[in-house]
Amino acid sequence: MNFLSQYDRTPTDVKFGLVRNWMKSSPDEFFDQLRADRPVLATPECTLLALYSDVVEVLLQPRVFTVQLYQDKMGSYLMAQDDTAVHFREKAIMQAMLNRDDLPRIRDFVGQTAAAILDAAPGRRIDAVNGLTRAVPIALVQEYMGFDGVEPEQLARWSYWNQWDTFHNQPFDGNENAADIHTTTREVNTELRGYLAELVPRRIGEIRAGTDRDDIVTRLLRTVFAEGVGFPMDRLVRNIGGLLIGSVETTSQAAAQALQGLLRRPDELARARAVVDEPTRFDGYVFEALRFDPISPYFFRRCAEDYTIGRGTGRETTIRAGTVVLPLVLSAMFDSAAHAAPLDFDADRPKDKMFHFGFGLHECLGRYIGEVMVPEIVRQVVKRPNARSLGAMEYSEATFPERYEITWD
Ligand code: HEM
Repeated sequence: MNFLSQYDRTPTDVKFGLVRNWMKSSPDEFFDQLRADRPVLATPECTLLALYSDVVEVLLQPRVFTVQLYQDKMGSYLMAQDDTAVHFREKAIMQAMLNRDDLPRIRDFVGQTAAAILDAAPGRRIDAVNGLTRAVPIALVQEYMGFDGVEPEQLARWSYWNQWDTFHNQPFDGNENAADIHTTTREVNTELRGYLAELVPRRIGEIRAGTDRDDIVTRLLRTVFAEGVGFPMDRLVRNIGGLLIGSVETTSQAAAQALQGLLRRPDELARARAVVDEPTRFDGYVFEALRFDPISPYFFRRCAEDYTIGRGTGRETTIRAGTVVLPLVLSAMFDSAAHAAPLDFDADRPKDKMFHFGFGLHECLGRYIGEVMVPEIVRQVVKRPNARSLGAMEYSEATFPERYEITWD
């Protein structure tokens, strides 16, 4: 199909609806044509950028291409701020708390948790989404991050609704029930705040009583921040909430989609299984599978001032202030200017040019945790003899994986 000629023939008011559908139903073919014929596609609602260099140019300029669209969803949380003092300070504090030296112990915990779940699955069969890819990050949030005394289903709900409202309930998503999604998210956030209002004083009491806990909530509350640092208790609590919201649904989607990507490619699966006991080699299969099916085909930014992209090239275009810009990260990961033989599945491909954990100022706070948690969940499945799926993955209305039945011998 020639997407661009159909696009050109379509009336202005329905052009973006078409684009949105193509990004969902046939992103690979659509993005191929964009890269070849119209790498900057200025639709009436959003401007799409299909080339690696343009995607990087945008993500490296947070003062021009801002996260203003996050503000309605996240208020003043660090992620909804660009290059501000709050973003700089709080990301640094949280990076220190999520000590990278913990990674081996996180990998062990994730591996043991996933293995125990799979061992206990009746009939060697499980819904990999609710049973595994959501369950494991929830367990990590409880154990490593310190969210105790709360049902796993609650933690899952709080992450799910926030992720839905922020990433798949923007004006350009065109959801008919956009207001309802936002309202429910506000309601679940009242529950989350209520839980944190109970957790924090309780944990402070435990610290005073001499607990030897060393989870992230405890680390945050044990640390004395001088007033001059500018990290008062309300900001600390907000950042605890961010840990949960960021961890669960993202990990679940990435692990489920990477798993499906491998189970659908028997040759690659066999090669991955051959190195299943060498995580440094195995993990490349997971991130490469995710390159073909990342958690989102695009990021989104609001342009704060007129900006000319593709300067001096045939695609030179001025993006007007106020325009929503979609850096098409899926397309960028298939741009042959950045990736050798992009259509090939190459488990040794350098992951630095992938966008699985964002890029630039807003690069994921949980990147290093995600980088061990996502592949380790998949690895535990691949280790099972003849691991296979029993059908295609089902998605929820929020476009997150909801059900993926797998089995093994
Ligand atoms: C421990 C778990 C995680 C936590 C606590 C977390 C938290 C965060 C935070 C706070 C940000 C915003 C950073 C900033 O604005 O400077 C972020 C960005 C991001 N995260 Fe994570 N995250 C986690 C796991 C994941 C996983 C597993 C994925 C996907 C595989 C992911 C994908 C992303 C992406 C793509 C962005 C960039 C969004 C953008 O540029 O607009 N995250 N994450």
